[in-house]
Amino acid sequence: MSLNTCVFDAYGTLFDVNAAARVAANEPNRRLFKEVWPSVSSLWRTKQLQYTWLRSMTNSYVDFWSITKDSLEFALEAHKLLNDLSLKERLLALYWELEPYPEVFQMLKELKKNGTKTAILSNGSPKMLNSAVKSSNLYEVINEIISVETVKIFKPDAKVYSQVENVLGCSKSEVLFVSSNGWDIAGASSFGFKTAWVNRSQDPIDRLPHKPNYILEDLKSIPNFFAD
Ligand code: LAC
Repeated sequence: MSLNTCVFDAYGTLFDVNAAARVAANEPNRRLFKEVWPSVSSLWRTKQLQYTWLRSMTNSYVDFWSITKDSLEFALEAHKLLNDLSLKERLLALYWELEPYPEVFQMLKELKKNGTKTAILSNGSPKMLNSAVKSSNLYEVINEIISVETVKIFKPDAKVYSQVENVLGCSKSEVLFVSSNGWDIAGASSFGFKTAWVNRSQDPIDRLPHKPNYILEDLKSIPNFFAD
């Protein structure tokens, strides 16, 4: 069966997870943060993902917003910035309106024009995802937003990927799954989707079973997978 449905990971794939720290670092009175923001942002993301995996493994699910706050606290404390309450609040507020990568809107518009079905499948809570989609004006160009909140376990559990078939009424062989997270690609490939790994920073490939079918530099070429 040919591909007719394109499913995207959200954080790091459509939305730039470093945007919150980058924006805050360039605001007035952030002298200390300006020096360390890339390291804070990277640790925030690393801990955020670790907490999703650990909470899935230990049956202690809490939603992605709680995990995002916990991991930010860890990252701020590691950089001796935990006392800066206004910084913490600002970073959390910015996470609700993360910038999409520059090519996202045009790429989704082309998919819509071709009649390709599109969805987000993300660890994010429905509220977080709705907010990010709304603030970046993507509502018109995305068909469905699917959150792990329904199954209460995080990626890469197969239950998460299996939601796509139920919600979109498609078969897995019709789906191209797109993510910048190598481990997410491994999970989605193992489930049975065709996968495209977006490797913006030329990272090495993850040493996990189930490799991506395609490796891309950015999202610009995605509509070509669905062209007649
Ligand atoms: C997501 C995380 C994995 O959006 O980036 O699901």
